[in-house]
Amino acid sequence: MNFLSDNARGAVPEILRAMAAAGEGAYAPYGDDAITALLEHRFAELFERAVAVFPVISGTAANALSLATLVPPHGAIFCHADSHIATDECSAVESFTHGAKLVGVESPHAKLTPAAIEEALMRFQKGLVHHAQPAAISLTQSSEFGTVYRLDEIRALSDCARRHGMALHMDGARFANALARLGCTPAEATWRAGVDVLSFGATKNGAVGAEAVIFFAPGNTRDFAFRRKKAGHLISKMRFVSAQLEAYVKDGLWLKLAARANASAALLAEGLAQVPGAEIAHPVEANAVFVRLPDAVVARLREAGAQFYDWAPPKDGRTLVRLVASFATPESDVAKFLEIALG
Ligand SMILES: Cc1ncc(COP(=O)(O)O)c(C=O)c1O
Repeated sequence: MNFLSDNARGAVPEILRAMAAAGEGAYAPYGDDAITALLEHRFAELFERAVAVFPVISGTAANALSLATLVPPHGAIFCHADSHIATDECSAVESFTHGAKLVGVESPHAKLTPAAIEEALMRFQKGLVHHAQPAAISLTQSSEFGTVYRLDEIRALSDCARRHGMALHMDGARFANALARLGCTPAEATWRAGVDVLSFGATKNGAVGAEAVIFFAPGNTRDFAFRRKKAGHLISKMRFVSAQLEAYVKDGLWLKLAARANASAALLAEGLAQVPGAEIAHPVEANAVFVRLPDAVVARLREAGAQFYDWAPPKDGRTLVRLVASFATPESDVAKFLEIALG
């Protein structure tokens, strides 16, 4: 019963087979290969427009490199206070941007709102040399608390970004889970809603290690290619990363996997809501469940071997825990977890 992270499970056979196939024969290195070239077409089809696609091997690199390309060293990036870039990337964004400021904004359920950003902007006056200059908004889709931005919410953030001359970046480490929830097209969920650059995740949803930075204005990728090389993310055997991404999006595999993960999380949430004293802390809209459980229930689950993270210290006899379901979470694990929780 492993609910630690969607990274806990391995990779799907379709992707492993694609990697094995990429291991045969010889290819030009550093992304000059046929598999990587195909990727641009595949993603152009997927997003219904020409895009620039840069494969990298971690979500942290995708976020830090894309934001460094969008934001000057004296820039300010508005993100949620609980966002991964603000809390879990060891100041990679600050480092890659050479010192840009991450402004952590508080708003419910880890979802940014224009009002919260406007309030934060009061302290970052454009043109005032004492202030870091507003340069980007970064939203996470699906969010760190398992919630999903609706299209009108993304558009409202994009309008806010435009009003203030900022770019809109989306951390899509779990973009598939959000899209499976929204049921819209990848285009609608990104550039049509005003997203400029997307960190497109695959690792958490069945790949071995593959992410892509996608620029929706392919003619304006600025110095991204140089930054990726300088950061050590221009992989010489890029074809293995590209092959994963290609297999991931082929025939809708990514969305099938994400829908499965989301369905497991929904089942968990439904069951846990019946546990006396339990409280679901955030709407369960993707593949993560945040729930306050009585400490006795937490202890019982751990004794039975269940694995999950505490998300806050125990308080008033309950602990907020995080459960993440994945593309490969066995139905029997969900059933057993609920049986134990319900006592
Ligand atoms: C929302 C979000 N963004 C980015 C990342 C970073 O991914 P990686 O661990 O591959 O650097 C994670 C990983 O947990 C994440 O949850």
